[in-house]
Amino acid sequence: MAFEMILTETHGRTALIRLNRPQALNALCDGLMAEMAEALAGFDRDDNIAAIVITGSEKAFAAGADIKEMKDRTFPGVLAEDFIGKWEAVTTIRKPVIAAVSGFALGGGCELAMMCDMIIASDTAKFGQPEINLGIIPGAGGTQRLTRAVGKSKAMDLVLTGRMMDAQEAERAGLVARIVPAADLLAEALKVAEKIGQLSGPSVATAKQAVNVAFETTLREGVRFERGVFYALFATEDQKEGMGAFAEKRKPAFRNR
Ligand code: CAA
Repeated sequence: MAFEMILTETHGRTALIRLNRPQALNALCDGLMAEMAEALAGFDRDDNIAAIVITGSEKAFAAGADIKEMKDRTFPGVLAEDFIGKWEAVTTIRKPVIAAVSGFALGGGCELAMMCDMIIASDTAKFGQPEINLGIIPGAGGTQRLTRAVGKSKAMDLVLTGRMMDAQEAERAGLVARIVPAADLLAEALKVAEKIGQLSGPSVATAKQAVNVAFETTLREGVRFERGVFYALFATEDQKEGMGAFAEKRKPAFRNR
């Protein structure tokens, strides 16, 4: 895969995607998001890959959708093209996707991080939805995912004023899973991905699906979904291996299928 605006590499069973437009603080232009969708889909199909990490630079995860590319767009144009609709590709990946965020995660950058399954932040990370300062509102799920993550009051505070919150505030609010020193960010994200890669593939994919259902449905429906897939996992070899290993006091060797 040859890309211009992202860099991809693999570390064991983990794929790493680095946003690579340093001159624009990784602003998310059309080309970059198309490459992101293609890389993610490729890694999702690859049996050698168990989890994916998306990261930016030390200064910026991503400073938002590309304002210079966007500024002359028209209402009929954005409607016909549905340019943000293509970003949804990030949310269709079955394998766990971890955002490793250092520096600015603003606007579409914060929204991209929130489309991932968890956010690991460096202590320098700054999150915000500053679109209100541009005469627009968040357009890639910011008003929805941020509100579900941090609640109405803080989401209103961020979306209506456009202010940034630092990593500590983001962790307290529940947006961020964990904070690590900037120098350790990538190593920590890769470690989490590697740990997930050693577990049972079907349980990992199902667990991701079940948590995501909580964002999209009622409690009753979500619990019903969870119970159905929980029962289904008893049909896997990995369930026999995981529980058998516990009973025999040994480490499980999951076959990932
Ligand atoms: N789009 C295009 N270019 C951007 C950009 C963006 N979102 N963010 C930064 N850049 C560019 C700057 O224009 C600048 O380029 P030049 O050197 O050619 O002038 C370069 O990146 C470096 O940026 P700054 O000089 O501004 O760096 P700074 O350290 O002084 O400030 C910043 C950093 C506070 C993040 C500032 O760049 C900024 O406010 N960026 C815009 C943030 C923003 O409004 N994001 C929301 C975008 S709209 C959106 O995302 C819609 C949606 O929901 C999908």
